[in-house]
Order: sequence, then C-alpha cells, then structure tokens
Amino acid sequence: MPRSPERPGAARWVPDDAGVEELEQAAHACRGCELWRDATQVVFSAGPPDADVALVGEQPGDREDREGEPFVGPAGGVLADALDAAGLDAGAVYLTNAVKHFRHVELPERGKRRLHRTPAVAHVRACLPWLEAELGAVRPRVVVALGATAARAVLGAPARVGELRGRVLDTPDGGAFPGASVVVTTHPSALLRLRDRSGWDDAFAALVVDLATAARAARAA
Ligand code: URA
Ligand code: SF4
Repeated sequence: MPRSPERPGAARWVPDDAGVEELEQAAHACRGCELWRDATQVVFSAGPPDADVALVGEQPGDREDREGEPFVGPAGGVLADALDAAGLDAGAVYLTNAVKHFRHVELPERGKRRLHRTPAVAHVRACLPWLEAELGAVRPRVVVALGATAARAVLGAPARVGELRGRVLDTPDGGAFPGASVVVTTHPSALLRLRDRSGWDDAFAALVVDLATAARAARAA
C-alpha cells in the first residue's frame, strides 16, 4: 500500500545509532503521520535506558499528552499497582508506547472533552521506527506488549491478546527486536472499565500473573 503524503512514516526523523535521550529530542520534530497536529506534544518514554524489561503501551492518553510523560494517568496507576504486585520495580522498567502522539476526537458539546481514539494500523506502522530505535538502544531482555495495538507493533502482525497472553514468545525472525522475548498481556485501561465491578479482581490478578511471567523470563535470560 503506498504511503499517503500525510503519513510518510517516522524513519526520516529517527537519528542513526542514537541513545534514548537523543531519540526523544528528535521525536519532537516528527511529522511521520498527521497525529502530531492535534496533540499537545510528543510523549516518548520513561525509565532507565538499560532496563531488562520494557513495557509497550498503545499511545499516550489525555493526561500523558498534557504532561509529556507516559503512563501518568489512570491507566498508569493501574499499571503501577500491577507491577508492584508482580514484584517489579516500576522505576526499573522502561515504559513506552507504540504510537507517540495522542489520537483523539474533541467533543465541543461536552466542554471540549477529548475522547481517546484507537490508533489505526497505519499510525502504528508510521511510528514503528521510533519503537525499533529505542528498543534497539535499550536492548531489554523482555518486551511486554500491553494490549492488541502494542502486540501488533512488537510482533509485526495482527495479534489476539486472549490467545497469546501470558506466554513467553520469541521475537519473530527478521523482526525489529532480535534477542528479546515477548510477553503479551491486556492493556491496563481495559481494567479501568471494570473498576468497582465484578471481574476487576480476576482481571487484575491475570495482569499481575503475566507481568510476573515477564519478570521471571527477564531473570532467566
Ligand atoms: N495508555 C497507554 O497505552 N499509554 C500511556 O502512556 C497511557 C495510557
Ligand atoms: Fe511521528 Fe509517531 Fe507522532 Fe506520527 S505518532 S507524528 S509517526 S511520533
């Protein structure tokens, strides 16, 4: 499929052989797809650039877009609790997203509330050079894909979270992240919808089990 002029892809903005800090600086200029236009700023990553475990989310949310940091909103709170319960130090993991600008629609009739829109496959593809470059620099032992969008980016193919979750997978041959294992799990924002409802405990426990699996795989690697 030809790339649209609006979506040339991020590659031309990604510096060669750069560390995470340099990549983050460069990402501010990215025009690899149209999502930069309605977003406040690029949201790159957080966490140590030599982490053993990298977590990949979908895209920044409303709070992340305003603050410029990943996972500082409600989904990030759930994730921090789950990491803690899995025995992973939240400050020791590398946190990033498959897509680095917030895709949303504004609802003028509701006080300009900004409603999350799932990024399209074309946005994931356009933004992939950033994820490849940063994970190439960090070289984590294990990459955790949070939800279907992240799993698609990391595995390079459509992925069903329900079928893949909790297993320690090899990175695909010829894929972007040679050497790392991949663990797919649910996105923490899926849990937010269950808060204070039946199903929360089981869903949270399942996320914790998957994160603990990733921690174990990182230790064994
Ligand atoms: N959801 C994500 O996928 N990423 C974030 O950074 C925040 C919420
Ligand atoms: Fe570039 Fe990714 Fe932002 Fe699109 S979403 S402009 S590819 S950083």
